Amino acid sequence: MMMLDRVNDPFQIDRVACFGRTMSEYVEMFNLDLEALKGTSILDCASGPASFAAEAQKKDIKVVACDPIYSKEIDDIMERAQHDIPACIRETQRHRDLFVRENNEEDVNFLNEKLRALRLFVTDYKKMDACRRYVPAAFPHLPFFDDGFDMVVCGNLLFLYSDVESGGILENSHFDYLFHHRAIHEMLRIARKEVRIYPVVGPNKERHPFIEELLEDKSFFPYDMQFESVAMKDIKGATQMLRIFKRGI
Ligand SMILES: C[S@@+](CC[C@H](N)C(=O)[O-])C[C@H]1O[C@@H](n2cnc3c(N)ncnc32)[C@H](O)[C@@H]1O
Repeated sequence: MMMLDRVNDPFQIDRVACFGRTMSEYVEMFNLDLEALKGTSILDCASGPASFAAEAQKKDIKVVACDPIYSKEIDDIMERAQHDIPACIRETQRHRDLFVRENNEEDVNFLNEKLRALRLFVTDYKKMDACRRYVPAAFPHLPFFDDGFDMVVCGNLLFLYSDVESGGILENSHFDYLFHHRAIHEMLRIARKEVRIYPVVGPNKERHPFIEELLEDKSFFPYDMQFESVAMKDIKGATQMLRIFKRGI
C-alpha cells in the first residue's frame, strides 16, 4: 500500500486497508452488551480480518462476517493484513494529532491487539464450518434474507473511506453519497431491529458531511436515527456511532 509521506499532507491512503479489530474493540465501537446479546444474531459487514465472529460464538452470539476479501485464499488475506496493519500504524505516527495514541509504546500495544485479532480470525477461518460464518460479499448488494439478523453492524468503512475531498481518508474513493445510501438501505433490509455504524467522522474530527445528507434524505424518514457516545478511543473526535432503528420493534 502506497502511503503519501509529504509533510502537511492530509491523512490518506490509496485503498481500503485489510485491518481488523478484536471483540473488545467491537464492544467499544458499538456499545455492545455481550450478556444481553446472548442468543441473538449479528451481521458484521466489511469485517475484514477482525476476530469479532470468532470470539462472539464463544459467548453464544451468532455473528456472520461478510467482506469482499473472503473471496481470496486465507494466505493472501493474511499476507495483506500483515502488510497493511503496520503500514497503517506507521501512517498514523506521522499524524499524531489525529489519534488518541501518543507514543510508540501505545502503538506497539495497538499493533499487538490487531495481530491478535488476525490470529484469532485466521484460526476460525480455517475451521470446517467457517463458510457459514465468513461470506464473501460487497456493498451495496449483500446475499442475505430480509430481516435475517437481529442487528447489522459496519465498522471502519462507511464515511471513513469516502474520498479525501468529501471528508474521508481514501484517494479516489468511489464510496460517494449514493454508495452510502444504498449500503445503509441494504443493511436496513437485512436487520430485523437495527443497524449500527462507526465512526461518523472523518480525519478532520467533524461529523462527516454525508451524515447531513442522510438526515435530510426522505428515504430514511421511516427510520429512527440516533447518535450515541461510545467508549472507543482511537481516532480523535470519533466518539459516536450512528444507530438506525426500524420502527415498531
Ligand atoms: C478497515 S477494514 C474494517 C474491518 C472491521 N470492520 C474493523 O472495524 O476492524 C475495512 C474492510 O472493508 C472491506 N471492504 C472494501 N470494500 C467493501 C465493500 N464495497 N463492501 C463491503 N466491504 C468492503 C475491506 O475488504 C476491509 O476488510
